[in-house]
Amino acid sequence: MCGIVGYIGFREAYPIILKGLKRLEYRGYDSAGIALYDGENIKLSKTKGKVDDLERKIKSEISTKGSLGIGHTRWATHGVPNDINSHPHYSKSGDLVIIHNGIIENYESLKKELIQRGYSFTSDTDTEVLINLIEDIKKSENIKLGKAVQIALTQVVGAYAIAVFDKNKPNEIVVARLGSPLAIGVGDDEFFIASDASPFIEYTNNAIYLEDEEMAIVRRDKPIKIRKIKDDSLVNPYVQELQLNLEQIEKGGYDHFMLKEIHEQPHAIKDTYRGRLRVNEGIIKMAGVDDNIEKFLNAKRIIVVACGTSWHAGLVSEYIFENFARIPVEVEYASEFRYRNPIINENDVVIAISQSGETADTLAAIKLAKSRGAFVFGVCNVVGSTIARETDAGAYTHAGPEIGVASTKAFTTQITVLTLIALKLAKAKGTISNSDYHLTLGELELIPQKVETALGSDAHIKSIAHTYKDSKNCLYLGRGYNFPVALEGALKLKEISYIHAEGYPAAEMKHGPIALIDENMPIIVIATKKGHYDKIVSNIQEIKSRKGKIIGIVTEGDQTVKGLADHVIEVPDTLESLSPLLTTIPLQLLSYHIAVMLDKNVDQPRNLAKSVTVE
Ligand code: G6P
Repeated sequence: MCGIVGYIGFREAYPIILKGLKRLEYRGYDSAGIALYDGENIKLSKTKGKVDDLERKIKSEISTKGSLGIGHTRWATHGVPNDINSHPHYSKSGDLVIIHNGIIENYESLKKELIQRGYSFTSDTDTEVLINLIEDIKKSENIKLGKAVQIALTQVVGAYAIAVFDKNKPNEIVVARLGSPLAIGVGDDEFFIASDASPFIEYTNNAIYLEDEEMAIVRRDKPIKIRKIKDDSLVNPYVQELQLNLEQIEKGGYDHFMLKEIHEQPHAIKDTYRGRLRVNEGIIKMAGVDDNIEKFLNAKRIIVVACGTSWHAGLVSEYIFENFARIPVEVEYASEFRYRNPIINENDVVIAISQSGETADTLAAIKLAKSRGAFVFGVCNVVGSTIARETDAGAYTHAGPEIGVASTKAFTTQITVLTLIALKLAKAKGTISNSDYHLTLGELELIPQKVETALGSDAHIKSIAHTYKDSKNCLYLGRGYNFPVALEGALKLKEISYIHAEGYPAAEMKHGPIALIDENMPIIVIATKKGHYDKIVSNIQEIKSRKGKIIGIVTEGDQTVKGLADHVIEVPDTLESLSPLLTTIPLQLLSYHIAVMLDKNVDQPRNLAKSVTVE
């Protein structure tokens, strides 16, 4: 949560920081601000609202000149979103200025001490406490900014990615991280600082990712120095070459990132299995699994930890792993798992699923599982992310950057990776017949073109969206593999249109939600031909008898549900185990169109953020 950007070099800093903040808005967007050094002084402008609001305001407030600056886009933790609580924050003297992504948990006790020492505070934030703590240490010990930052950070409990500069030493920016990501773009005679590489990708392909508990002094005229905050030891900067390109982080002609990402799914799924799925040879190559195959084969159970949409992908994988590989699976919310003293040991394999690879609760669950001896495998999208690095091994989804806050292609590519793993284990364990194995491999290879076909129903889905856009509630039902898809469909609608929606196992409807059904209630039922088709047709009859409005997600050519439902949306036929990869598509499009028709901010829904780095 929160995006940070900084620049020091020979160009004008303002346009770089502003554009960078727009790219990082997925991390938080309730307020924004920029501080620039204009050659004499710090100029600071900040506001409640989005980066566009800041852009409108800034030029009437300050000169945007200067080649050193920092900027922030906020997802509020301490203090409501307003102009004062927005970052950057000055120190009391006005000499120092800071941006911060994270939470300082012991800020209240630090604040009390600082108040006793004569400091006063204008905002409610933990960040203003941190910058004054730095100033206090710097002044009382008469030391340089870097050293003062280092000492201050040894006194704080919490998480941070920070950038600080001093108007009296305007040739350096001091940065540090613990628990929140921080990348440094390394150019010729210029440096960029950001929460991820997107703000600087058109300037340099070289980046250093700070590790936890590291800090760096970034100076134009000197090589970067990285130190461990606690023991002061120097770390050799590792400069990575980035694979990202500009096209991947732009909308490419679509109105929204979410729509672009929905349409990218055929390609993204192909990228996920490319080089791994070898249908002709009948093999699946995944280095992270191959190198640790004994761990997987000896596992007494698999525990999946994740949050949000990734948790839903985990639920789909429970069906896949248990069905194919006959390994018991438990799917846990990372936030619950980490605090409930789980029974876990070296016979367990933990699979952590995370698009961003930065989710704080998932990261904490990983650390807990590792400390108890479990083997932890990561399924992440963002290359080099904290979770990707913290896990013992892993497999990337290779979906490309996902910028829309509501996750779409991350979900289907996570399911693809998990299916590949399950099939691989099933083959090694002999729990799948040869014919089923080859059939599933072949079908998986066809999924991208079937997703493309499912996307072809867009106009029809849009017309259904128009009919139901003013609904107050919505129910999503599915069985078996498609129960988690019902949860995911409901989540998508809630997230971006703010319509209350619930996902339920279709048969459970009788134990509660059926009481909600009347002629105003749209009910989306996933009723593809395989699996529990007859049972779900009975559930549809039960809804119909209570006059609910039925939108059926059906297999191409289905007549039975068509005869019962108010609307049907067809998806191509496939194996039941792979059907979530197709049934998800119309649910994503339905939510998207409803949100657009309601004039909601699809890519940046209220109160949410893409990367949740606070617990
Ligand atoms: C946030 C995002 C969701 C995402 C969840 C987990 O809530 O808005 O889209 O599913 O975090 O994120 P992760 O990056 O760990 O998959």
